[in-house]
Amino acid sequence: MIISIDGPAGSGKSTVAEALSKKLGFYHFNSGSLYRAITAYLIDCHIFSSEDKNFAEKINACKLNVRFDHSCQLVFVNNVDYTNRLREIQVSELTPKFSVHPIVRSLVDECQKDFASKNNVVIDGRDIGSFVLPNADLKFYLDCDINERAKRRLKELSLSNKSLTLNDVKKKIEIRDEFDRNKKIAPLIIPKNAIILDSTHLSVDEVVEKMLKIIKKYKK
Ligand code: DC
Repeated sequence: MIISIDGPAGSGKSTVAEALSKKLGFYHFNSGSLYRAITAYLIDCHIFSSEDKNFAEKINACKLNVRFDHSCQLVFVNNVDYTNRLREIQVSELTPKFSVHPIVRSLVDECQKDFASKNNVVIDGRDIGSFVLPNADLKFYLDCDINERAKRRLKELSLSNKSLTLNDVKKKIEIRDEFDRNKKIAPLIIPKNAIILDSTHLSVDEVVEKMLKIIKKYKK
């Protein structure tokens, strides 16, 4: 069974996907981590832009694998484990630039499709129900008001950066939304037949409860 969860940055997709997958005994496959791992690999190859003359050659020779250690997703590029590098600042900054490139997207798409064809999975991202796995059994689109998303992000980020303001974070999210919604390949859209849930006034547990009810009905 394939359950996709798409939505804008900060809507809680990946936290919800993690909790839901645990309840169902499914794998939680986080698609953003694959784009991040490829970026970390390119940085190691001293490639910082898709304009680099070696970019296409490196991507075409890339072997991308996902394995699970109990319920923890590990991402390998050419058999090297990149899992601990995914949240590095440089990786976060460069991933949006590489992730829009068609050859990077097709590498990630192939890996996602292959995994989903063999496993029960909750998979979260921005283009899963719309482009990667349009035939997923159940598709959710998790939305959330931008002010609430900014508050949540500020709470996370202020642990390491005390000088950030709510306005700084909100502006960054607005730019990110604009970018995600208007990119030429696989823009963030509400997938056809997706069930829209708004997490603005709901806790993670409440969102998961709603999803579980919907999944139960679907299975009947
Ligand atoms: O969700 P995240 O921050 O880990 O995503 C990392 C980057 O990958 C971000 O720039 C958006 C991109 N991404 C994407 O283009 N498509 C997806 N399905 C998931 C992530």
